[in-house]
Amino acid sequence: MIPTKDKELLDQEKQLAAQAALQWVRDGMLVGLGTGSTAAHFIRLLGEVVKAGKLRIQATATSVASETLARQLGIPLVEPHRGLRFDLTVDGADELDPQLNLIKGGGGALLREKVLATASDYMLVIADSSKAVAQLGQFPLPLEVVSFALPWVLDAVADLGGNPVVRMDKNDPNKYAHSDQGNLLVDCHFNHLPNPTELARQLETIPGLVEHGLFLGLARAALVVRGGQAQVLRPGSAPQPATDFTELP
Ligand code: 5RP
Repeated sequence: MIPTKDKELLDQEKQLAAQAALQWVRDGMLVGLGTGSTAAHFIRLLGEVVKAGKLRIQATATSVASETLARQLGIPLVEPHRGLRFDLTVDGADELDPQLNLIKGGGGALLREKVLATASDYMLVIADSSKAVAQLGQFPLPLEVVSFALPWVLDAVADLGGNPVVRMDKNDPNKYAHSDQGNLLVDCHFNHLPNPTELARQLETIPGLVEHGLFLGLARAALVVRGGQAQVLRPGSAPQPATDFTELP
């Protein structure tokens, strides 16, 4: 459990990262909206800019929760359709390593998050300082699983050393949690992931496992706030202050 003071500090960092991400948004863009508390900060800030008439953008959200928030704020929404690509997707992460490989899905939205990240020309991750790690794996890796296949998926993941735990509903601990697609969520406690590429390959061979939360090679940049300053991280490069950053998506 994170102490309240640390939680407040981390939330301030999330807000700063979300604020800095507005620099990436240009007039006319199609934007993918992430899920989670950091992404919610970004959606709220984007909503203010759109309401003020400073930016005309269209967006698609990675979850029902983010879509509802965006709609309430008056952000124009686009339904999925053939040929739809996003100029930019801004999303949070549960962990990110120096190559910007990610663990995502703590909020259960990993499937739609991966769909939009893959359909985007540029994925920007926004995160507080607790998310940047030297090696992925402390955070349990989320999976989205078809209910019928659950027993066999649990066996297969256990064989891979993942100690799988089916996620329970936050409001009813006697019921399983479900994704927006109505599938189950399984959290896999690997503790460390020395070879995420190989693990992703193995997970992708398990029938009924719809998606896993390893996002490898998808993020182009990350905004991580440390000591009150937003820093831009790019795969394998030294961090830069977000204020100096001029690259356009
Ligand atoms: C949701 C996610 C989120 O991006 C991740 O859980 C981070 O959440 P938060 O911004 O609340 O820390 O992957 O499925």
